[in-house]
Amino acid sequence: MCGIVAYIGYREAAPLIIKGLKRLEYRGYDSAGIALLNDKGLNIYKKKGKVAELENELQHKEISANLGIGHTRWATHGEPNDINAHPHFSQSEHLAIIHNGIIENYAAIKTSLIQKGYTFESETDTEVLINFIEDVKKHKGCSTEEAVRLALSEVVGAYAIAVIDLEEPGQMIAARKGSPLVIGVGQNEYFFASDATPIIEYTKDVVYLDDHEIAVVKDGELAIKNLDNQEKGPFIQTVELELESIEKGGFEHFMLKEIYEQPKSIADCMRGRLNADTAHIQLGGLIHYIDKLATAKRIVFVACGTSWHAGLVGEYLFEELARINVEVEYASEFRYRNPIIEEGDFVIAISQSGETADTLAALELAKHKGATILGVCNVVGSSIARLTHAGVYTHAGPEIGVASTKAFTAQVSVLSMMAIATAKQKGTLTDEEYRSLLSEMASIPRKIEQILQLDEEIKDIAKLFTFASNFIFLGRGLNFPVALEGALKLKEISYIHAEGYPAAEMKHGPIALIDEDMPVVFIAIKDSSYEKVMSNIQEVKARKGRVIAIVNEGDETVRNMVDFAIEIPNSHEMVSTLLTCIPLQLLSYHIAVMRGRNVDQPRNLAKSVTVE
Ligand code: AGP
Ligand code: GLU
Repeated sequence: MCGIVAYIGYREAAPLIIKGLKRLEYRGYDSAGIALLNDKGLNIYKKKGKVAELENELQHKEISANLGIGHTRWATHGEPNDINAHPHFSQSEHLAIIHNGIIENYAAIKTSLIQKGYTFESETDTEVLINFIEDVKKHKGCSTEEAVRLALSEVVGAYAIAVIDLEEPGQMIAARKGSPLVIGVGQNEYFFASDATPIIEYTKDVVYLDDHEIAVVKDGELAIKNLDNQEKGPFIQTVELELESIEKGGFEHFMLKEIYEQPKSIADCMRGRLNADTAHIQLGGLIHYIDKLATAKRIVFVACGTSWHAGLVGEYLFEELARINVEVEYASEFRYRNPIIEEGDFVIAISQSGETADTLAALELAKHKGATILGVCNVVGSSIARLTHAGVYTHAGPEIGVASTKAFTAQVSVLSMMAIATAKQKGTLTDEEYRSLLSEMASIPRKIEQILQLDEEIKDIAKLFTFASNFIFLGRGLNFPVALEGALKLKEISYIHAEGYPAAEMKHGPIALIDEDMPVVFIAIKDSSYEKVMSNIQEVKARKGRVIAIVNEGDETVRNMVDFAIEIPNSHEMVSTLLTCIPLQLLSYHIAVMRGRNVDQPRNLAKSVTVE
């Protein structure tokens, strides 16, 4: 969603904040702004558009300051424009705020403030919050820090905020509930940001603020307390993130870099956990839960988007290998139903960012209803990760491209390891099957390397479909979710309408769409549904559909049936999705690039949807 960067210390704040906001651009935004406190006073500069435009705005301004807050906004209340951009002043212009999240009860608070004579420039909930803080400060006669605490105690919704006060040039106040906020702890300087990427070039020592906590830097000292005013010693961790890991590494786009990183990211995901030589899986995060998981009556996956597709793969894996009943729920649907959760149920959230509002809320509901809740997240210290009883990090490294690629294969890798380990624990796998699966998993990174060698071939195929208006993706069994994922990849970065279906579903309607202008992508590897898929290919070809097929190496039969065949290495059906998705990622990437799309930051999309 939006990005927060704030600084207090001895450096020039403006350039540091602007650079930090640029590092957060991948999160998606529509406007940007900065507030600086110096001997000229407290000044705000903000505008709709990119950070670079804000940077131009700052030229020839008196912006030398050691204290500042910066923001990239993803609008929730009030359209993207200069006025609704953050930061926002309080009425007195003595306070300034930046905010990620939604204040759900802002309307009632705004009505009350208007009755007290407050006026508002913007349509945002954020401006209401800063005036609420000012009103509390005025009527309680208390400090700004105390006013923030009291006001947030009344607020309903999600927030990560930073507040500065004209009268307190040595102070920074930050707080969070439901939106991420990381504090970088330097030598006589502090950094605040939505994630660690703007911080790590200055310090690797960070504090992950928890929900309902307030951090106050005053005269060089950091103090953390909760909304009940109880002090909490800052728990300083060292971030492993390396700066180059957030650069493009010579690739044109982060998305391509991340597609190519998958041999490594999957190897990293399995490192220290899966050992095919010793036939052992050890998921440290589940050590106290694997027995309980093996006897679970039901597993419910809650997720959104690509992570939901990973959950569908997980369903096949857990049902086939561990013989456990699995349901896969859109988190946004699950959270607003009154779902039945019974003793022994596991609810597992799958989320790259660990901050998706719907997934977080679904998990909170499941926890409230008594489920054991686990997480499969990529961002360490993320809200979902810290809510769960236990979980498994995917260790895919930062995924900057909005379109998820390496996070998806890392999620499927974790779910595969979880299902295999659970099945082993439960005794539903013979030793031979167990060893075979571990060996297959261990071979995946090498096999993906082989598929990446096909990039130019896939790019040539993509050229022929650059101007397609529609696409259909078809698969069966475990590869039905991969068909859905392939369709999502294409539509979200190329803006071509694309749909994924179980291949057998064609005859129940979608086949009416088939003609010579409808490209159809089949996943047609030699698995248990191979013959059935071949029949579906024939049905499409009989109606002049143009077919691209993902096939196993040497499959001349399908190659002779279709217009284009992309050959991938053979594998066990249970791990095949880690391979079949790779050509679809590359196909979508190249089509989008040829259509001139902003591949890393597609229109309307954000990397982490932290609002509903
Ligand atoms: C996938 O390419 C999209 N960026 C989107 O569907 C994403 O998977 C979804 O928003 C869930 O995000 P999460 O994994 O961070 O929860
Ligand atoms: N709700 C605030 C607004 O609409 C903040 C949105 C965001 O997280 O960027 O301005």
